[in-house]
Amino acid sequence: MDKLENFCAIRYASGVLELLDQRLLPAREQWISIDSVDSAIAAISDLVVRGAPAIGITAAYAAVIAARTHAEDRAAWQRELNRLVRARPTAVNLSWAIERMRRADTGGERLDAEALEREAVAIHAEDIAANQAMAEFGAGQIEPGCGVLTHCNTGALATGGVGTAFGVIAAGYRLGRIERVYAGETRPWLQGSRLTAWELARAGIPFKVLIEGAAASLMASGEIDWVITGADRIAANGDVANKIGTYSLAVLARHHGVRMMVVAPASTLDPAMPSGDNIAIEQRDGEEIWRAAGIDRPPAGFAAWNPVFDITPGELVDCIVTEQGVHQPPFDFSA
Ligand code: MRU
Repeated sequence: MDKLENFCAIRYASGVLELLDQRLLPAREQWISIDSVDSAIAAISDLVVRGAPAIGITAAYAAVIAARTHAEDRAAWQRELNRLVRARPTAVNLSWAIERMRRADTGGERLDAEALEREAVAIHAEDIAANQAMAEFGAGQIEPGCGVLTHCNTGALATGGVGTAFGVIAAGYRLGRIERVYAGETRPWLQGSRLTAWELARAGIPFKVLIEGAAASLMASGEIDWVITGADRIAANGDVANKIGTYSLAVLARHHGVRMMVVAPASTLDPAMPSGDNIAIEQRDGEEIWRAAGIDRPPAGFAAWNPVFDITPGELVDCIVTEQGVHQPPFDFSA
């Protein structure tokens, strides 16, 4: 098995994109080849690949694949990019990456697939470097001997590199600042108990998974000092869109005197979004909830509400770590 530092769930070489199928983890490590925009959109919307930065990187490579298919038809390429942007609504990294790909178009008679490929590779490489910088900045905020709770999955599976919140936790653990790691299971898709657990085990970091309903008791026990999460979009005022349940953790954390750190690359900032009020929250099929409960066919009358992200008000966040440094409240990402 690769070490996490060298591990990436997105592989691209010579026009071939491969994704580790996250739906099958931790039971099976199986890679899927992506050879069209249709297969990239399906992979993003079916959560073969997920996590805000990883979605952006995948879309950038898919834009290169589309450029090879439509080398002589810029309008068709643009339409493919428009379709890619709609694959999932909440993570701004997707539209951010596609905008960068549009700007990398050199405007010649034919699309320059090599130039576009260089841009996609740069987006990927920049995310790896951002992860590293955030890990150091974030770990620097944590005093020795701390316990942390994280939510969803924010490591190599969700990014191009060591991860966002996960990178901070891994660095903090290696520096001896973090002694206890807890991961919420993250219903209904179980990113915590399937993916974060898999990554923590691979990294050799001892951990405990808990059901989300146990978070208040965990905080009351005094075992944790920080909640550390990633983000899918951060508004100009510091409101944070992230996996459903993040808001609950932030409210609980404030009540218990536990600090809340959000870790995300600058590609997750959305300066044009004044607050979290207008961030689109993805609603997924209620079937995910029944499946997590072991119910294949819900009996008549069983209904579900399944928003998969929520908005944490910026005033509940103690610091936001990007590759540019540690931002303290009041937040202002408008520029
Ligand atoms: O639905 P998902 O699994 O794509 O949601 C992912 C998250 O909410 C992560 O916390 C976020 O993308 C940050 S990952 C670096």
